[in-house]
Amino acid sequence: MEFDGKIAIVSAGGSGIGKHAALGLAAKGASVAVLDLNGESAEAVVADILAAGGKATAHQGDASSLGDLDRAVAEIKQTADHVDILFNNVGMPNPHGIDDITDEQWTRCIDVNLKSNFFLTQKVLPLMRVTGRGGSIIYTASAAGLTGSYTTPLYSMTKSGLVGLTRSLAILLAPEKIRVNAICPGPVRTPMLAGFMSRSADATDEIADLYASRVPLGRVAEPSEIADAVIYLAGDTSSYVTGVPFPVDGGYTTQ
Ligand SMILES: NC(=O)c1ccc[n+]([C@@H]2O[C@H](COP(=O)([O-])OP(=O)(O)OC[C@H]3O[C@@H](n4cnc5c(N)ncnc54)[C@H](O)[C@@H]3O)[C@@H](O)[C@H]2O)c1
Repeated sequence: MEFDGKIAIVSAGGSGIGKHAALGLAAKGASVAVLDLNGESAEAVVADILAAGGKATAHQGDASSLGDLDRAVAEIKQTADHVDILFNNVGMPNPHGIDDITDEQWTRCIDVNLKSNFFLTQKVLPLMRVTGRGGSIIYTASAAGLTGSYTTPLYSMTKSGLVGLTRSLAILLAPEKIRVNAICPGPVRTPMLAGFMSRSADATDEIADLYASRVPLGRVAEPSEIADAVIYLAGDTSSYVTGVPFPVDGGYTTQ
C-alpha cells in the first residue's frame, strides 16, 4: 500500500478533517499517531483504525501547550523511531469582528492556530530528519487565509500566517527533501462549522445550508474530501509539490 512502513502524526485527529485524514492514511498502510485535546476522541479514532487492521496510537494534549507537546512527542517516540508525515491540523474558529474581541480571545486564537502548529513542527522535525529520506508536512490553513473575511478577521489573520509559514519552511527544508504544503478548505461539514457563526454543533446542517449558497459548487465539503487532498500532499504522487497553499473549497476563493 502507498504508505506501508510510513509513520504519520495527525494533530486534531479526533474529529472532522483530522479524523478522516488519520483513517485514510491508516487505510493506506501508515502507522498513525493521533493527537487531540479530547483524549476520548483520539482513542475512538485509534480504535476504528485498529479494528480495520491498521496501526495507530492515541495521544491527549493541548497542542498550544509546549509541555503537552513535549509529552505527546515523547509518547510517540516510544513506538516510532522516525516520522514521515506531519499533518498539523489544529485550529479554532473566532466568530468575532474587531470591535468586541478581548485580549484573552486574541491570545487563545493565536496560540491554538499558530503557536501549536509552529511548535509541533519544531518538535517533530528531528524525528523527520532521522532517515534522511525527507518527509511531508501539511498545515490546515483555510480559504479564509487566502481571502479577506468580513466575519472573522482574527481567524483569517492566523490562517494567512500558516500560509506564510508554509512558504518559508518549504524553502528552508527543501534541501532536506522535506516538502511543506497547506490545505485551504472552504466550509466543511464538521462540528467546527457552526462555531464560525457562534452556534453550537447541533446547528451544523442549518449553517451548512447557509454557507452552501456562497460556494460555486453549491454545497459545503464533507471532511473526507479535504482528507483526500491531505493524503495526496502526504504521498509520493505530490513529490514535486512544495510551498503551496492548496484551495479545496468548491471554488470559494475564485470569487
Ligand atoms: N470546518 C470548516 O469549515 C473548516 C474550514 C477551513 C479550515 N478548517 C480548519 O480545519 C481544522 C480542523 O477543523 P475541523 O473542521 O475538522 O474541526 P472539528 O471540530 O471537527 O475538529 C477539531 C478537533 O480539534 C481538536 N482540538 C481543538 N483544540 C485543540 C488543541 N488546542 N489541541 C489539540 N486538539 C485540539 C478538537 O478536540 C477536535 O477533535 C482546523 O484547523 C480548522 O480551522 C475548518
